[in-house]
Amino acid sequence: MLKPLTIGSLSLQHNVVLAPLAGITNLPFRLICRQAGASLAYTEMVSVNGLVREGIKTLALLKSSLGDRPLGIQLFGDKPDDLAEAARMIEGYGDLLDINMGCPVRKVVGTGAGSALLQEPLKIAAILRAVRAATTLPLTIKIRSGWHCGDNVFREVGRIAESEGCDAITLHPRSRSLMFSGQADWIQLKEMKEALSIPVLGSGDLFTPEDCLRMLRETGCDGIMIARGALGNPWIFRQVRELQASGSYTPATTAERADTILEHLNLFIAERGEAIAVREIKKHIGWYAKGFVGASEIRRAANSAVSVQDIQKLTEKIRSAPDNAGHIPDDHAK
Ligand SMILES: Cc1cc2nc3c(=O)[nH]c(=O)nc-3n(C[C@H](O)[C@H](O)[C@H](O)COP(=O)(O)O)c2cc1C
Repeated sequence: MLKPLTIGSLSLQHNVVLAPLAGITNLPFRLICRQAGASLAYTEMVSVNGLVREGIKTLALLKSSLGDRPLGIQLFGDKPDDLAEAARMIEGYGDLLDINMGCPVRKVVGTGAGSALLQEPLKIAAILRAVRAATTLPLTIKIRSGWHCGDNVFREVGRIAESEGCDAITLHPRSRSLMFSGQADWIQLKEMKEALSIPVLGSGDLFTPEDCLRMLRETGCDGIMIARGALGNPWIFRQVRELQASGSYTPATTAERADTILEHLNLFIAERGEAIAVREIKKHIGWYAKGFVGASEIRRAANSAVSVQDIQKLTEKIRSAPDNAGHIPDDHAK
């Protein structure tokens, strides 16, 4: 089930990738997930308005490094000409261009972008035609199944994507109206895969290595995108490969957790300086502590941390805690 994946001119070692996550998939987190085995990572979604109107300032959001490849750049916007101009601007910054057509949040749909586009298939076609003509990068879109439950425009959008020259499509099979409630409907992934000849990637409710292999097996989709399941749990990328190879996987040890938090902290420091690094890593420690014996005490200590030394002391506490039965997500961060 895990196998190499080709998206246009981009060849990936395997088909388990890190999803775009606004506010989360910045350079430090991408590097942490790549080390654990993600074959592709995406930037946070970047505003086309920002790129076209503010230029260099917004391009700073695309900061990457040599170890951060291959990199997908995700844009959101709703005007074909602006999207095409943005596509030209980002050409040298990444290896693939994805257009967000699934984001459900009011701030984005209120501008006509994200999942609001699912109500306007003709506009989707115009966007893809303009962008396809503007870039030679592999071009993909990421969608939800529709705006309302049951409208299921994903099939129509999939056909448009294929005929307008998209190289792959990712489906998160929930409607916009569901936001993150209920369960993702994986049957829609199977339908999408059967209807298209371009690669289909699946997203939705991948919280364990078992979920990942089950999605690949049950839907036949070409690849999967791990999102909330990677928060505080980058090891899921190595575990899914272990599970396929040997039928089992090693849980993350407390030493591995402590080392990863320190490494993540240091990547933030290098990127943004100590003050912002402490603020950012505190959010991630909340996730790294999920399913961990003493999680609430760790979260409390993280919340009151004010310095790099406080975080370092906290990781030593984690390191010396007994290993428990691995990472058992106790809730799903939204
Ligand atoms: C905090 C958060 C931020 C997200 N940001 C983005 C984003 O910027 N672009 C995007 O296409 N999807 C975004 N998503 C959706 C995820 O990529 C993914 O499709 C969704 O969470 C379903 O997968 P999961 O159930 O495995 O988490 C976001 C989801 C969450 C929870």
